[in-house]
Amino acid sequence: MRTHVVDHPLIAHKLTALRDERTDSPTFRRLADELVTLLAYEATRDVRVEPVTVATPVAPATGVRLASPKPLVVPILRAGLGMLDGMMRLLPTAEVGFLGMVRDEETLQATTYATRLPDDLSGRQCYVLDPMLATGGTLGAAVQFLADRGAESVTCICLLVAPEGIAHLDEVLASLNVPVTVVTAALDDRLNELGYIVPGLGDAGDRLYGVV
Ligand code: URA
Repeated sequence: MRTHVVDHPLIAHKLTALRDERTDSPTFRRLADELVTLLAYEATRDVRVEPVTVATPVAPATGVRLASPKPLVVPILRAGLGMLDGMMRLLPTAEVGFLGMVRDEETLQATTYATRLPDDLSGRQCYVLDPMLATGGTLGAAVQFLADRGAESVTCICLLVAPEGIAHLDEVLASLNVPVTVVTAALDDRLNELGYIVPGLGDAGDRLYGVV
């Protein structure tokens, strides 16, 4: 697995404002959206394209367009939904599948409560959106899910990751035959005893959508 921490002053600036506990939900949503678009630019560096020729007003020009099958974007509900618009801004023709996963706050185990994905993902490049890679339980299960359906590659876009989550994902992936990349704005220090990333930004779902 490849982990790519994107080093850019605009990303660091927006992430710092996201972390700030004084940032309210509307501002948090806007910053998360902008941050995802910046991360998506890096995350799609290997998106498959094919050659195409177009006619400019002056002459033919050779270029590229996104190849088929289209990339599949998979937000993990609920917090991943706050990343969808930012991703689709760069990949408007991608298809979107949904995975609903919730982690038990005591055992920290992830369970799937909703799926809306193509049965066959052969040849598909998948982009999973999950803001926080904490224990890695949710993302590990999501990657496994996509690999079982034949995904060609999986790129996970996370606002923040913890070392424990990266290690867990590496373990899960040892038995899978799919290339996985994690693209993130920062690798934080550790998890606390409640499974929160430190220093992190708190509960991403609550900060996006309120405590429900
Ligand atoms: N999920 C969150 O929303 N925040 C964390 O710090 C860890 C998991």
